Amino acid sequence: MLLDRVTEALVRRQRNRRDKLSPASSQQPIEVEARSLSKTFADGERRVEALRQVDLEVRRGDFLAIMGPSGSGKSTLLHLVGALDTPTSGTLMVGGERLGALSDNELTTIRSEQIGFVFQFFNLLPTLTAAENVLLPALIAGERSRQSKGRVTELLGLVGLAEREGHLPGELSGGEQQRVSLARALVRNPGLILADEPTGNLDTESGNTVLGLLRRIAREGQTVIMVTHDPVAASSADKIIFLRDGQRAGEIAGGDPQHAASYLSQLDNRNGDGPARRP
Ligand SMILES: Nc1ncnc2c1ncn2[C@@H]1O[C@H](COP(=O)(O)OP(=O)(O)OP(=O)(O)O)[C@@H](O)[C@H]1O
Ligand SMILES: [Mg+2]
Repeated sequence: MLLDRVTEALVRRQRNRRDKLSPASSQQPIEVEARSLSKTFADGERRVEALRQVDLEVRRGDFLAIMGPSGSGKSTLLHLVGALDTPTSGTLMVGGERLGALSDNELTTIRSEQIGFVFQFFNLLPTLTAAENVLLPALIAGERSRQSKGRVTELLGLVGLAEREGHLPGELSGGEQQRVSLARALVRNPGLILADEPTGNLDTESGNTVLGLLRRIAREGQTVIMVTHDPVAASSADKIIFLRDGQRAGEIAGGDPQHAASYLSQLDNRNGDGPARRP
């Protein structure tokens, strides 16, 4: 099948990211390291402690899922790791760089070259076609357009949207827009993929395509951090960490959707009043 051939080609290109001997995950360099990361938002008169002293360590080639009740700080954590926002306190290293020590220009370079972000609400540009949206990060980075266009076609094929290249976002379903957003995140072959609910709007089959792609690119050396409400999706990851009220609330190995679901429902059922708010 054409799709399989394209997948193989993509995988071959990414294979050199892994060390030749394919060492175990614990021997891979640390890609993301957060220490005591906190984020407080001013919300009118009140302050919302969206993240409280979160520690996190993710090694290159890991596929990590983040779960937790709505409002527990999942998107906030992903935004901080993606250098889209700055922590109130704590330290964050991404790809060996301490983000707090970098200038705005250096942060822009990291965002553009090392990180692919799949937003919870897609953030596609409405006046550009699916293909143009996917191409945009490559064009902004000054990549040669012919090469990049081939890659756009490959990626749209991989997410099952080969037939939708010329459609505007408004002509696509939510799930299709979500997959365009994933293709856009992958177009520059970033070392770190941050995906916020990448299967939230997908039917089972499209969801499995996306999860299979994420698993595969992680196996080949790209690091994937995925936020999800779905225990089945989370179980595609190597490890699942849980957030509650902005704090780490445990972790389990991936692979068992029922375990993930019961862990999550325990968190949901414990009494709590959402993220800490104080005057
Ligand atoms: N820009 C902001 N200003 C004020 N409060 C914010 C802001 N962004 C997030 N929050 C608050 O921080 C808390 C965590 O939000 P976050 O978006 O990280 O949650 P989440 O776990 O991603 O939830 P969901 O599953 O609903 O997407 C919430 O209480 C939210 O209202
Ligand atoms: Mg969120």
